[in-house]
Amino acid sequence: MDVRIYQTAAEIGEAAGEVFVQQILDKPDCVLGLATGVTPIPMYTYIGNQCNAGRVSLKKVTTFNLDEYCNLPVTHRESYYAFMHRNLFDHTDILEENVHLLNGNADDFDAECEAYEKAMAAAGGVDLQLLGIGTNGHIGFNEPSDEFSDGPFKVKLTESTITSNKIYFDTEDEMPRYALTMGIGDIMRAKKIVFIATGEGKAKAVYDMIEGPVSPKCPASILQNHKDVIVFLDKGAAKLLK
Ligand code: F6R
Repeated sequence: MDVRIYQTAAEIGEAAGEVFVQQILDKPDCVLGLATGVTPIPMYTYIGNQCNAGRVSLKKVTTFNLDEYCNLPVTHRESYYAFMHRNLFDHTDILEENVHLLNGNADDFDAECEAYEKAMAAAGGVDLQLLGIGTNGHIGFNEPSDEFSDGPFKVKLTESTITSNKIYFDTEDEMPRYALTMGIGDIMRAKKIVFIATGEGKAKAVYDMIEGPVSPKCPASILQNHKDVIVFLDKGAAKLLK
């Protein structure tokens, strides 16, 4: 893993955003795997700004998001569909038909996951995948488990994830308990990965990911086996690294 440490979240946003801009400049019809959460917001702002400045165009880009809550209307501000439009897509020239998110309101979740896997394969696979990390080591919504997953699936969110994310909802009950997520196999099939983490709250998960054993107890540790991962950390997230 290529680990790079920065002073501020804004610097990470720019540096990681620049990897995405270069990817799009190198291959205008590339396939991007995207994440939600607080961490990537500065990076999405940077990409939106570069697009508005005319430096890069997302017109031919295809995107697949990592995950989506189950049974939350896409019109809800905390749906990942709404998040992605608010923080990135609405500030670029991407075409809506090239945007893909798992449908957390599908009647048949298995069929939805199967169709998503097929759509990713038909698009030629993900060229560049963005990842953040949960305090429990999750990537996407692959929670700590006894085995690594492969394709997309429906997951029961852990208490740790519910505690981290419920603060964004008006009431605790509104926070969904299930989500659809790409599997670890999907993430590992991406040709290149950009991983970002900021703040001391992520330090233990980052330590387990980089210096711990490869284990589904810390799903992010599988990234030790990927040949092209750039890890962007601030000092807080890097605090426990030797
Ligand atoms: C969301 C996702 C999650 C987040 C993680 C960190 O699409 O993939 O794994 O990256 O929960 O979230 P933040 O950035 O809010 O700390």
